[in-house]
Amino acid sequence: MLLTVCVLLLLVSPTLGAPLSRPQAKPRNKVLLVSFDGFRWDYDRDVDTPNLDTMAQDGVKATYVTPPYLTITSPAHFTLLTGRYIESHGVIHNIWFNTTTQEKKQYYMTQFVDEYWDNGSLPIWITAQRQGLKAGSLHFPGTAATYKGQRVEVNQVEPRFYDYSNETEWQINIDTVMGSWFSQKDLDFVSLYFGEPDQAGHTYGPDSEERREMVKQVDRTVGYIRSTAKKHGLTDRLNIIITADHGMTTVLRKGLVKEIILSQIPGFSFRDIKFHLVDYGPSGMMLPKEGMLDKVYKALKGAHPNLHVYKKEDMPGRLHYSNHPRILPLILYADPGYVINGLFPVQNSKGEHGFDNQAMDMKPFFRAVGPDFRKNLVVGPFETVNVYPLMCHLLGITPDPNNGSLDATRNMLVSHKDTGTHEVSKRSAQSNVFIGLAAVAGFLVVIFIMVISIYKRRKDNQSNIGQLSSENKDKEEVARKQTSL
Ligand SMILES: *[C@@H]1O[C@H](CO)[C@@H](O)[C@H](O)[C@H]1NC(C)=O
Ligand SMILES: *[C@@H]1O[C@H](CO)[C@@H](O)[C@H](O)[C@H]1NC(C)=O
Ligand SMILES: *[C@@H]1O[C@H](CO)[C@@H](O)[C@H](O)[C@H]1NC(C)=O
Ligand SMILES: *[C@@H]1O[C@H](CO)[C@@H](O)[C@H](O)[C@H]1NC(C)=O
Ligand SMILES: [Zn+2]
Repeated sequence: MLLTVCVLLLLVSPTLGAPLSRPQAKPRNKVLLVSFDGFRWDYDRDVDTPNLDTMAQDGVKATYVTPPYLTITSPAHFTLLTGRYIESHGVIHNIWFNTTTQEKKQYYMTQFVDEYWDNGSLPIWITAQRQGLKAGSLHFPGTAATYKGQRVEVNQVEPRFYDYSNETEWQINIDTVMGSWFSQKDLDFVSLYFGEPDQAGHTYGPDSEERREMVKQVDRTVGYIRSTAKKHGLTDRLNIIITADHGMTTVLRKGLVKEIILSQIPGFSFRDIKFHLVDYGPSGMMLPKEGMLDKVYKALKGAHPNLHVYKKEDMPGRLHYSNHPRILPLILYADPGYVINGLFPVQNSKGEHGFDNQAMDMKPFFRAVGPDFRKNLVVGPFETVNVYPLMCHLLGITPDPNNGSLDATRNMLVSHKDTGTHEVSKRSAQSNVFIGLAAVAGFLVVIFIMVISIYKRRKDNQSNIGQLSSENKDKEEVARKQTSL
């Protein structure tokens, strides 16, 4: 009889074991982070944007997002990549500078100054690569630099004089990312940058027809991104996040307003300044000569009703733009619409950014679509420091210390607890449990019949069988705990 029990057990246990085993670990979905430089949150309001509208129906749209201060390109993009405020990641300006030699490097050349970018914060590419994932970046600010000896492995840096507006180029770049990088090279994460509608906003102003035309080009490109993903069979495996670094506002010119011209402020002289960064939109920084800080500060403070002047340590804490050695002792910023001129007005942009990140015109847009995102959901605003922990979560990697939180975006995800495939795995887990329970029940019936028959013959075999069935109860208990995670 004992032999019969053993044979029965052997027959039953494989069917028991298989359905009760843990459902397969979910495959990791890929993430594409796209930035359209200077795409203000409301740019879709005065233009037909069928592709952005479809994307919103298929995914998540935030009313707007709040960028870090200073609201300019390199610093704000590095916040997207690190989840840190600018004072914590150290890329404090588009311009690299040396206050001793007076040397300045403009946006493009600053890309190649490794020490400028590699200031103690790792962008998500490096964090992902360190944790065994494959990352790529195309034209995204920070792509060219080496971080702690590592660079984003698959990368494309634009040539020196690149036409950031050419739609054909955009499509070629998208083909590269979808076809070569995600499909063939099987990358897990890619960041992709487009230099518009920033340029159109600067050159013609955010309320211009040219800007609206460029938003149409962006919209066509969003459609192209999604159709190309589909063509390569990526739709169900790729989460796409589309956002920007900052917004744009119209510059108010002479005749409309009293312009800010520092050289005309009584008591202020550039002779008291060792190094300065002005004539760069609405923000400026200064290093006064030895012993001149208070004199310069007193001259500038209150000199113009739309000019804000702070000693570094007094900067409003909410801006998180103070606590870094690269930030100069005196910080200037203007109200929306105003730019800070040095000797005389040399800036001719019709649109600008760099203003207080509380100004609505500085807020970028945010859209997301993919297997891990809910559909047709509009969420409230959040800070862009939170994009980094969201991407880390989607990729299943451990984030580096940062200023964001997954709590800000968790409600966008298919399930609040884990991500995308949760519903699927829950369903299969439920059926697994059902099959498991049925098998256990069947097994118990067999045991019961056997117990009865054994009991009739020999009482002393009972204890063995009792042990066996309680063992299976334990198994079932463990299985249930595993599947209901
Ligand atoms: C600036 O230049 C000086 C003199 O060449 C040099 O000693 C210093 O390290 C430089 N600082 C930075 C931030 O590059
Ligand atoms: C960051 O940059 C500052 C100023 O250039 C420098 O003093 C500091 O050592 C750098 N920190 C790291 C971790 O690279
Ligand atoms: C745009 O880029 C394509 C592909 O590089 C090129 O053939 C075309 O001449 C460019 N168009 C303009 C207007 O520069
Ligand atoms: C931002 O994060 C960095 C790194 O964890 C931390 O050192 C810094 O104190 C944080 N800043 C704020 C305002 O919490
Ligand atoms: Zn920008």
